[in-house]
Amino acid sequence: MPSNLSAIKKIAISTGGGDAPGLNAVIKAVTVSAIQRGWDVLGIRDGYNGIMFPEMYPDGGFIRLTRETVRGITHLGGTILGTTNRNDPLHFPITNQQGEVEFLDRTDEIVRAFKLHSVDALISVGGDGSLAIANALHKKGIRVIGVPKTIDNDLDKTVITFGFDTAISFATECLDRLHTTAASHGRVMVVEVMGRYAGWIALHCGIAGSADVVLIPEIPFDIQIVAKKIIERDEGGHNFSIVVVSEAAHPIGGNIIAKPQTGRQELLGGIGSVVANELEQLTGKETRLVVLGHLLRGGSPTAFDRLVALRFGAAAVRALSEGMDGVMVALDPPNVRYVPLEKITSRTKKVPLDSDTILTARDLGICLGDQT
Ligand code: F6P
Repeated sequence: MPSNLSAIKKIAISTGGGDAPGLNAVIKAVTVSAIQRGWDVLGIRDGYNGIMFPEMYPDGGFIRLTRETVRGITHLGGTILGTTNRNDPLHFPITNQQGEVEFLDRTDEIVRAFKLHSVDALISVGGDGSLAIANALHKKGIRVIGVPKTIDNDLDKTVITFGFDTAISFATECLDRLHTTAASHGRVMVVEVMGRYAGWIALHCGIAGSADVVLIPEIPFDIQIVAKKIIERDEGGHNFSIVVVSEAAHPIGGNIIAKPQTGRQELLGGIGSVVANELEQLTGKETRLVVLGHLLRGGSPTAFDRLVALRFGAAAVRALSEGMDGVMVALDPPNVRYVPLEKITSRTKKVPLDSDTILTARDLGICLGDQT
């Protein structure tokens, strides 16, 4: 440990943003690895709500994590600490006397709470929003390690985030199931999946689940081309089609469908319904819509996600014990590495158009909406 860093006795862990399968595995790995080093571990309730609104919690907003509290949670979806994608302490929304929304920086309250509870370091598990908060706390003198999380796999500087494999495994199973009913009825099934502004989930489940069409935000689509693909399949003797649509997919020259929200990210979704209606009209084929939505965020993490999450949690604690500060754990196969938090931007990691995954989809005859 560098001589300018005091010994750690107590750490805190927070899970923020939308949940992802594997969060509990991170909590388990952090807790056990820290206890092995003789440290105490506090879990903060619901992102930073436990600190900003302690009166709402019978336990004061912190839960003491012990071997007992984290026993048997590796395989559980969700997070035992709770999470939120509201109440960002860096941009906390309040309504002023004129009825306008203003944003406050409440991170000083977190710094004060850490002093009050003798917390020596924080492990912050979350997406780009949570990592920006972690960086702000680091700049205010808190020792912080970030752990990236999202089912969308759209975070920069890490090859993969846990939660993604579970999401695509479940979506793939859904596509398998939809094949049989689509074939029996000779229908078009349109399946809308999450993913925010990147098409990783749609592309990966679409290829693994043998979709006929995959529409992703990185490739604006022409609905006429999609309809042509379906009609050609019909003419070739395949009377059904499976169309996977990412929530931010949009037509050439058109907009993403999004609902603005106050003090939090806009809500995406609805493009599946538009695509389904248009395809029914253009092809004359009976079409049904399935929106997988939050089903992709639930359930037990796959073995792959459990392993990534456990490796990230243990690596975060190792980083602290080796004197690191202000870094994010990242997967750079076959290794875990550390990236300075200040290098993490809110830039979305998009699917590269020249990636072998895109080429694979095209080689398999999957229509990506720009050519049949
Ligand atoms: O980032 C994860 C994610 O599940 C996105 O794919 C989706 O757009 C968003 O969260 C939905 O968030 P919520 O419904 O929890 O506000």
